[in-house]
Order: sequence, then structure tokens, then C-alpha cells
Amino acid sequence: MISRKPLRAIRSFVRREGRLTDAQQCALNEYWSNYGVDFQENAFDQNSLFKRRAPLIIDIGAGTGDSTLYQAIQFPKNNYLAIEVHRPGVGHLLNEIHKAQLTNIKVINHDVIPVLEKQITNRSISQFFIFFPDPWPKKRHHKRRLINAYLINLLKQKLTRHGRIHIATDWADYADHISEVFKQDNDLVNLAGQNNFSPRPNWRIETRYEKRGQRLSHEIYDFCFTLR
Ligand SMILES: C[S@@+](CC[C@H](N)C(=O)[O-])C[C@H]1O[C@@H](n2cnc3c(N)ncnc32)[C@H](O)[C@@H]1O
Repeated sequence: MISRKPLRAIRSFVRREGRLTDAQQCALNEYWSNYGVDFQENAFDQNSLFKRRAPLIIDIGAGTGDSTLYQAIQFPKNNYLAIEVHRPGVGHLLNEIHKAQLTNIKVINHDVIPVLEKQITNRSISQFFIFFPDPWPKKRHHKRRLINAYLINLLKQKLTRHGRIHIATDWADYADHISEVFKQDNDLVNLAGQNNFSPRPNWRIETRYEKRGQRLSHEIYDFCFTLR
């Protein structure tokens, strides 16, 4: 009998650890207890984690966290949670958080799917950022793309009433895929209108993935979705 793996079982990343620099390793050793949040099967309490009540924004697949860090500095009234599987990126971000002495940013080093399933309370997130998710350009790898109906369903449950999902990609074919999967969801609305892209938000900094896309003459596609 042919067994088909459910969408959920296919991961959007491959754990290719790569070498940690001394600075990244040192940051993981020294600063994890201040800014890191271990994965656990129970939902965490935001107010006790950040020691205050504030809108919580999650950056999914934060990479080296440049975007999350910039946001946390620019918008000190918000709390930020960077979720990233790649340890060198997490080490880099921990160092930067420590240098800037920020108290409004925490980091989870884990696959975002179980984090959303287990660790995040429903109706508690005011914005999600998914900037330059891995495009998995080969057709046979499309099933690995992070943005699919399963993820969207989780995001929907976690968003606050007027919460927003911001997405950017430089892959035209991934942008089409994103439009399609969101179009099939009846609870979310594309703020730019169906099949349209949003203007590039001026608060989104250019990370190295956006710059790379520009070097390759790729167009950049922004989306913003909210609950109906
Ligand atoms: C192309 S990078 C973009 C990084 C960052 N958002 C930026 O714009 O610079 C995509 C990141 O998503 C991370 N990632 C992919 N799937 C993930 C998952 N399921 N959970 C957490 N992180 C994931 C990858 O490790 C990678 O660092």
C-alpha cells in the first residue's frame, strides 16, 4: 500500500548545522538563559516571560535575526519572539540582543510548527512576520515550503482579532503559491485585495536575502493578511 506523508510530517528545513563561530557558541552558552526560551509542550505565559504586557510579534524563520532586532529597537513598546532552527543564526542574534541590552526580544531555537501547536496561546499574537522563507524552488521540493494550509490554520488560531500576517518573498512562483493557499482560506483577507501584493512596508529592513534577490533581479513580493 502506498503511504503518503501528511503535510505536517514534511519539514521546511534540513538540519545542516554548519560550524558555529566562537562568538556564536559563546553567546549560546552565556546568553541563552537570559534571552532563550526552551521548547516545551505547554503554552508559556507572555507576561511573565517578558515581565510586562505588550503586543507580541513573532518572526518565523528569523535567520540571523537582523529584522527582529531592528524591529525590537525601533518599536520598544512591542515584545518580539524570533523562532529559528539554525543554531549559528540564533547564536548571532543572542550576541546582538546582549550588545543592545534589549529586554523586549526572546528567541526559540526550534521548528516553528510544534512551537505554534504547543507553546503559543490562541489569540495572543498581534503580528507574524515570515520574511524570505526558504523558496525550495525545485518542483519536487515544493512540499517542503513552510507556507501551506497547515501553517495558515495555526497562524489563524494564534492571531489576535486585528492581528496581521506579513510575508515577503523574492520568488515569483512562491508568491503565486502564497496567493493561492491564502485565497483558499475563508477566514483571512488579503489587505491589498485578492491576487494583489502589498506595498513594501517601510519598517521592513533589507536583510541579506532581500539584497540577494535584488542582485538576481528578482522582484520582491509583500503580503499582508488579517482575519475577516
Ligand atoms: C531564507 S532564511 C530567511 C531569514 C530571515 N527571515 C531574513 O529575511 O533574513 C529562512 C530561514 O527560515 C528558517 N526555517 C525554515 N523552516 C523553519 C521552521 N520550520 N522553523 C523555524 N525556522 C525555520 C531557516 O533555518 C532559515 O534561517
